[in-house]
Amino acid sequence: MLRGIDERGKDLKMQIIAHRGASGYELENSLSSFKKAIEMGVDGIELDVYRCKTGELVVIHDEKINRVTNGTGYVQDFTLDELKSFDLKNGEKIPTLNEVLDLVNKKIIVDIELKGENTGEPVEQAIKDYAQNKGWSYYNFLVTSFNHIELRHFHELCDEVKIGVLISGIPIGYTQFAKDLGAKFVVLSKSFINKKFVDNAHAKNLQVFVYTINDVDDFEKMKNLGVDVIITNYPDRF
Ligand code: G3P
Ligand code: CA
Repeated sequence: MLRGIDERGKDLKMQIIAHRGASGYELENSLSSFKKAIEMGVDGIELDVYRCKTGELVVIHDEKINRVTNGTGYVQDFTLDELKSFDLKNGEKIPTLNEVLDLVNKKIIVDIELKGENTGEPVEQAIKDYAQNKGWSYYNFLVTSFNHIELRHFHELCDEVKIGVLISGIPIGYTQFAKDLGAKFVVLSKSFINKKFVDNAHAKNLQVFVYTINDVDDFEKMKNLGVDVIITNYPDRF
């Protein structure tokens, strides 16, 4: 279980999640990046998932493979075999969600961001498979999304896993909205975070995750604001 995620208290240490792995050091969302994050002793890793043409979940941030591989085109237009024929810029292959979960092997939390369309259901199936057949706990997982329809769909299928609402800016009524969705936490960019946001969220028993915190000044600021979890590219700095 992620320390501090399930019980919030003033004396609890802020938790650290590696954003796309230790992506300040290794190519984002690659197995090397996740391995490095684990070695650095993080509480969890964050990753992004899309569903490819043959239905498997692959771990990649963009809807196209252009930025991080030697290929071009939309993730969802390729079969898994086709995606595996391309090289990531570090020479590895685009990992599947299962490959990342096997690497993590229950050691830390995996925070899965539903990035692509129709990812809620296959993510639910993957989590159930690891929980029911591979000795994982539902506490090993967090699921988030900016796509609140997809997130709600996931939650309807799997209410054992804590979900977090990714929000852009500070929408009016965000705490009620998050509660109505069944979320346990909200995830916000550091550009918008302030004390009132944190206090309002905590008053509604919602935890606050902030991304992307990469320097010590921002880290100290988040601590003073009472933020629960930071998401960073450089986990070893804190
Ligand atoms: O978890 C927060 C963060 O990952 C959301 O933004 O663009 O890095 O996926 P992005
Ligand atoms: Ca993400």
